[in-house]
Amino acid sequence: MDKIVALCKRRGFIFPSSEIYGGLGSTYDYGHYGVLLKTNVKNEWWRAMVQERDDIVALDSAILQHPRVWEASGHLAGFTDPMVDCRTCKARFRADHIGELQCPQKPSRHPGEGPDCDLTEARDFNLMFETTVGPVKDSGSIAYLRPETAQGIFINFKNVLQFSRKKPPFGIAQVGKSFRNEITPGNFVFRTREFEQMEMEFFVPPTEADTWYRYWIEQRERWYTELGIRPDHLKIRPHDEDELSHYSSGTSDVEYLFPIGWSELEGIANRGSFDLTRHAEFSGEKLEYFDQATGERYVPHVIEPAAGADRATLAFLVDAYDEEEVAGEQRTLLRLHPRLAPVKVAVLPLVRKDGQPELAGEVHAALRGRMHTEYDEGGSVGKRYRRQDEIGTPWCVTIDHQSIEDRTVTLRDRDTLAQERVAIDELPDLIATRLAADWTSPKIG
Ligand code: GAP
Repeated sequence: MDKIVALCKRRGFIFPSSEIYGGLGSTYDYGHYGVLLKTNVKNEWWRAMVQERDDIVALDSAILQHPRVWEASGHLAGFTDPMVDCRTCKARFRADHIGELQCPQKPSRHPGEGPDCDLTEARDFNLMFETTVGPVKDSGSIAYLRPETAQGIFINFKNVLQFSRKKPPFGIAQVGKSFRNEITPGNFVFRTREFEQMEMEFFVPPTEADTWYRYWIEQRERWYTELGIRPDHLKIRPHDEDELSHYSSGTSDVEYLFPIGWSELEGIANRGSFDLTRHAEFSGEKLEYFDQATGERYVPHVIEPAAGADRATLAFLVDAYDEEEVAGEQRTLLRLHPRLAPVKVAVLPLVRKDGQPELAGEVHAALRGRMHTEYDEGGSVGKRYRRQDEIGTPWCVTIDHQSIEDRTVTLRDRDTLAQERVAIDELPDLIATRLAADWTSPKIG
């Protein structure tokens, strides 16, 4: 993980937030390549959820919602973690994670094990961030930053049903920021207090819930492997009965083998009719489906694949990170799926003279309308290749003296290091075809 964190900082993917003020624990800012990478992750999610299907529509609901939403959802009463404080060092810990945590004063021991530790009894701590809406701060103006995007979908069920002409089974997909005042955030962007979720609520006839639950587990696992995650680093872990959330009759996590061990990447839950029933009860609105063909009226059940954009981005980075020795030199690279790579092609003139920068500019202009492209003429070509390897650029195009004579370039492959000679006019189509092709991580096997 240290190597990933260092590369992310060095190459402008992710920085600790508010760094010039000493940082604010576990918040991060995404730099240029981080933004491009995370955007690609989200776009691939939209592609799989909406673009390639007819049964899911998009939504972007507000972060601030009516406080009754969180009463109905159960978050106000139950979205808590048990927490203990140390009266000596004033640190706060998650009571159920004590065995994995370090005492701040004696890092070789767990909290409570040091000679001076004095822990309180466990207390429930609500993870929602509270704020106030409007100019007057009183109990009537309290609102919460949403701790999940899902509730914004449930409260819009009726709106979407009316305009979208969909009938169950159908889904509503949303990507957006969520906020949780985590007691023990950490492990880089794995657990933070502000993060992005990619959630889809799939509304189904109650009798079909189990079939769709299994369907979505399979679909979501496949999404990661098709985007290059090594299958032996991915597994499905069904929750035990005592782990299930209050709303769930079945949950399975997609877990990834992070450097910190197997950890949740995404949860797929069978939420039954809990959410629509509760919001109907609290709002007084009917949230059900009436099938005109059969005369049947029912509250749909919900299957929810809930993923984290930051956590998925971290998994793709970890899975792609590689080091190898080439001609006696160490090479660090990100073997990202080309569709996820922040930059698809780098255009590099071999020298800064003899018409090469001008021709490279022309090639760059021809490519950039179709894909994210970077032009770089600074430093030795070896150094420029290394830089592109570290940000995961799948192809480098080099313009040399022969290019001026016959309008061909060399196309270098990040993974194999193979170089081929390609006509400039054929380059955009060739790269677009390769971008659309299936891809398997060279780290497999
Ligand atoms: N609507 C259900 C729900 O929110 P969750 O398991 O609490 O379920 C779904 O969250 C996903 O959101 C997680 O699998 C994870 O990828 C991401 N996530 C949750 N809390 C996070 C945090 N504090 N930091 C980063 N990602 C988080």
